[in-house]
Amino acid sequence: MIALEAHAKVNLSLRVGVKREDGYHDIDTVMTRLQLADKIELELCLSGISLACSDASLPCGEKNLAWRAAKLFFEKAKISSGIHIKIEKKIPVEGGLAGGSSDAASVLLGMNRLYEEKFSSQELMKMASQLGSDIPFFIQNHTARCRGRGELVESLPNLQPQAEVLLIFPPFGVSTPWAFSAWDARDWQGEGRVPSAQSFGGILLENDLEAPVFDKYVVLATLKDYLLRLPGVEAALMSGSGSTVFAILRESADAEDLKQKLQAEFGETFLTELTAFLA
Ligand code: C5P
Repeated sequence: MIALEAHAKVNLSLRVGVKREDGYHDIDTVMTRLQLADKIELELCLSGISLACSDASLPCGEKNLAWRAAKLFFEKAKISSGIHIKIEKKIPVEGGLAGGSSDAASVLLGMNRLYEEKFSSQELMKMASQLGSDIPFFIQNHTARCRGRGELVESLPNLQPQAEVLLIFPPFGVSTPWAFSAWDARDWQGEGRVPSAQSFGGILLENDLEAPVFDKYVVLATLKDYLLRLPGVEAALMSGSGSTVFAILRESADAEDLKQKLQAEFGETFLTELTAFLA
């Protein structure tokens, strides 16, 4: 049995380009990991792929990316064996933090360890990109710039932001396909609706998907504006296609006080979690 941590990510920047013939969009994004992580346990068995998850609302069969990752690994390795996967969810679902993608990447990495590093990182990256656009990022360990549909990963080992991060989880998720199609529906940039970039440690923080998502979920725009007015907050941005909004805290920030202020303003259905960039 081996245990792994599947970390959440945030997008420090996300620029969206044109829709391609395969239905995906070209993106140019910088992603980094957070300390917040799901816990994964893998145990080999004689046959079959079984998955147990602490969140009963998630599918446990082939609709789950982690299950599909195990299936793909066995297929590519031409191994006829079985595995039991246990996932303890800490990362919210449909939150723009790539929890499901990170779980799937951890299954690939963990199985590769169980089978004595059968595949190179390049081969694992290829398998990861077959499973989903966000997954190759998790095959490497650094902050990274990801292009193409997300699968072209350039590690940026010298770019490691350090700060505490307050995550705010609204009581609804945002569907990624919907967010991209809403981006296509209008010229948000031409209309001047894309919020201006902020900067943090030399990184330009911007997310093109904020414009279409904030247009539908107005409370997220209000939340971001509110965060930016708090003295303890250095910068605030939606992650991926949302709905999570993250605030990068100043060293002087009183995180407990910020949490209380947020709940007083937005209500208790807006959950918060204090974490940090992964050093
Ligand atoms: O690759 P993944 O399954 O994570 O993507 C989910 C959906 O998000 C895609 O089906 C597509 O609608 C949208 N997407 C996109 N362009 C990307 C990544 C995702 O349009 N670069």
